[in-house]
Amino acid sequence: MQLNPLDIHNHLLPGVDDGFATAEESLEAIRGLLAAGVEELVFTPHINPEVYPGNDEGRMRQAYGEFRPLLPDGLKTSLAAEYMICTDFERDIAGRAGELLCYEDKSILVEMSYLFRSPNLDKVLFELQMAGFKPILAHPERYLYMADCLEDFDRLHENGCRFQLNYISYTGVYGRDSVKIIRYLARRGYCDFVATDLHSIHQLERIISSDIAFLLKNLSFSIFCTKKSASRPWAWRDGRGDA
Ligand SMILES: [Fe+2]
Repeated sequence: MQLNPLDIHNHLLPGVDDGFATAEESLEAIRGLLAAGVEELVFTPHINPEVYPGNDEGRMRQAYGEFRPLLPDGLKTSLAAEYMICTDFERDIAGRAGELLCYEDKSILVEMSYLFRSPNLDKVLFELQMAGFKPILAHPERYLYMADCLEDFDRLHENGCRFQLNYISYTGVYGRDSVKIIRYLARRGYCDFVATDLHSIHQLERIISSDIAFLLKNLSFSIFCTKKSASRPWAWRDGRGDA
């Protein structure tokens, strides 16, 4: 399976979260991604003070600076982050705007717990936008509690929140409710990005070996999502990011 040229969500920055532990393992995965068609990576380590107390923007910038010299020649990379929407993140977003790790067009990746909806989700999304950011909610298909309130996605999308789905989710690995969410998002045209969210070589092997025929049979809208998403990540390069 060929992947989108730009991967906007992964945990390839080594030794900082639950992703790749060593530079060697990460570089092996990066070689696999290049072979699968990836041309550019945006590293998105977890920033979640409740799980990774030392992971602040300064540490991530330092880790990226140390990893960069090891990367393959010619590979374009940059650093953003995957921010957990928790109480800490809500504090003083406007005051910290210059520090936050985001994509080059000021899109910013956020996530919620898999167990419950962040009570301050709407407030955070609003404040991010007031501070000039364009929020992207990571893997909405993994928040299974949303399967019972799918209309929430309409409101979020209408309010400027875009969605990034994981390739592996299209295999149905997260169950019936996840598939229900993917189908809903696809029907509504809300599958804005698809990315690897890569944590391990095992995941990469599973993504690359995915049987497209199986996905088509079980997730009839998956190709629509993938084709649409394939063009979107590049849009922010030429001012079409809001198209
Ligand atoms: Fe992630």
